[in-house]
Amino acid sequence: MRVPAFSFSQTKPPPCLRGERIASSITSSMKIDVITLFPELISVPMGTSIMGRAIDKGFLELGVYDLRAHGLGKHQHVDDTPCGGGQGMVLKPEPLFAALEAVDTPKSRIILMTPQGRRFDQRLAEELAKEKHLIFVCGHYEGVDHRVVEHWVDDEISIGDYVLTNGAIAAVVVMDAITRLIPGVLGDDMSAVDESFGPSGILEAPQYTKPAEFRGMKVPDILLGGHHAKITEWRHERALERTLQNRPDLLTSNTQPS
Ligand code: ADE
Repeated sequence: MRVPAFSFSQTKPPPCLRGERIASSITSSMKIDVITLFPELISVPMGTSIMGRAIDKGFLELGVYDLRAHGLGKHQHVDDTPCGGGQGMVLKPEPLFAALEAVDTPKSRIILMTPQGRRFDQRLAEELAKEKHLIFVCGHYEGVDHRVVEHWVDDEISIGDYVLTNGAIAAVVVMDAITRLIPGVLGDDMSAVDESFGPSGILEAPQYTKPAEFRGMKVPDILLGGHHAKITEWRHERALERTLQNRPDLLTSNTQPS
């Protein structure tokens, strides 16, 4: 049973989220399906700004599926107490198996969002952006029955060493980082290269815009002088300073982004 969940009401979702075909000359370069208990946590941010435009223009095809639709019994149960005891509730295997069977294809890469996962970073975003079909399973409560992980999941991903109430929020973070890497999604005036965690492996230098002076605070003269070599050197020095201050681990790490 494929049950797209487009039932949120506060904003009008983009065509793809309304389940309509998008009239576009561009073939979607990526398809993402999300299985969650909270479809609106996905649909609203994914329908907004650059991600919403990526969907409208056909760069990304997004399907959001409500796990509750596969819940068991009259009350559509999706969770139960942990075997062996312990706190909280665990997502049951039956609804997740049914939801995954409905969207899986031989080319799908299935990702479980969980604080127990491998840490997400720019390199993993770049790897995932090359896939044709991603399926995100959003955990909730104390986790998901491990048979789901063993049978279905290709990657367990965490967005950091903290615990969120819900994997859907983490999935949006990952989808945003991936979507902006799809060729054509960022306009000509924006670039996915030359930025923090890009090829240089260090943070970006500080940026300034007009006016050249604001409340007595001045844009550094070097940025206004038009000398490109000097500007590049200045930016590199500031980038190193910033990295040393905020992320010294990036300077000592052997794992430089490729
Ligand atoms: N679910 C709860 N916390 C999470 C995290 N840090 N990363 C991914 N999924 C999560």
